[in-house]
Amino acid sequence: MDIVRRPETMQRITTNELAQVFIDEQVAEIREQVKDKKVLLALSGGVDSSVVAALLIKAIGKQLVCVHVNHGLMRKGESEQVIEVFRNQLDANLIYIDATDRFLDLLRDVAEPEKKRKIIGNEFIKVFDEEAGKLQGISFLAQGTIYPDILESDGVKAHHNVGGLPEDMQMELVEPIKLLYKDEVRVVGKALGLPAQMVDRQPFPGPGLGVRCLGAITRDRLHALREADAILREEFDKCGLASKVWQYFIAVPDFKSVGVKDNKRYEGWPAIIRAVNTVDAMTATIEEIPYEVLHTITNRITTEVEGINRVLLDLTPKPIGTIEWE
Ligand code: XMP
Repeated sequence: MDIVRRPETMQRITTNELAQVFIDEQVAEIREQVKDKKVLLALSGGVDSSVVAALLIKAIGKQLVCVHVNHGLMRKGESEQVIEVFRNQLDANLIYIDATDRFLDLLRDVAEPEKKRKIIGNEFIKVFDEEAGKLQGISFLAQGTIYPDILESDGVKAHHNVGGLPEDMQMELVEPIKLLYKDEVRVVGKALGLPAQMVDRQPFPGPGLGVRCLGAITRDRLHALREADAILREEFDKCGLASKVWQYFIAVPDFKSVGVKDNKRYEGWPAIIRAVNTVDAMTATIEEIPYEVLHTITNRITTEVEGINRVLLDLTPKPIGTIEWE
């Protein structure tokens, strides 16, 4: 039987059954390719790298070495979830590196968005490279390349993503999901038993909260952003908006306004809510959020998050506004 899938003709994976067939094929192919050698994977916790990790764990177990670099710009609980799912539940060979200080020290006083991106991208490669250098006998590098990455040959994602790895890493690639579209990756992820929270994750920029903590990042404002974002996500989960809105997050600009708290002057940053719907992120519309929900979110953020004294809602479609505030 010819099991070689061709992107133009292959049956798209829409059900659990089809996903199982795909998984069995890939497990066999990975074993055939890798044999008894070791594979390295940069595991960000995003949908693509998580599904690749789960596939490889199924195929070759501890021959896979996952490296999760926490650049300090993750959303609340994300690195913890990577450790919980991959190390504790799937018993993966996972190296966790908390490089928060390295990244935040380099980013100190850097306000220009492109410069911030460059610093984060370069440092990510450096940290990953250093870790890879400590490991012995790695022959393969696994990557969560998906079909749209190949189609977007203009390199937008490569430029965008923090996961871009050094070209001089002399390793053969393992790319088990390179023929899949994002929706299919999610179906496969669910069939592999990954938690829905991980598989249905909204898109999250490689440079993480770095693009939402506007201007020069400070630790206190980054912390406020992370906490406010967690509240927004919690409230969207509660009221059912989480499954209706394509992408939603908080951005925190680097200016303060005056407010009053406990009868005293209280200067704080505004938290800006962005909640959009889109098909391809090229254009986006604004999702209606019931006022009741907005009041709850505003109340929680302004009382629970140190440093925030106002909550604003961005009603701008794309175009003219981009999705991120960067
Ligand atoms: P904009 O802000 O340009 O964003 O309207 C469009 C979409 O791209 C996401 N985005 C990224 N995705 N790596 C990614 O994989 C990145 O570095 C990156 N930066 C922005 C953004 O969140 C939105 O969904």
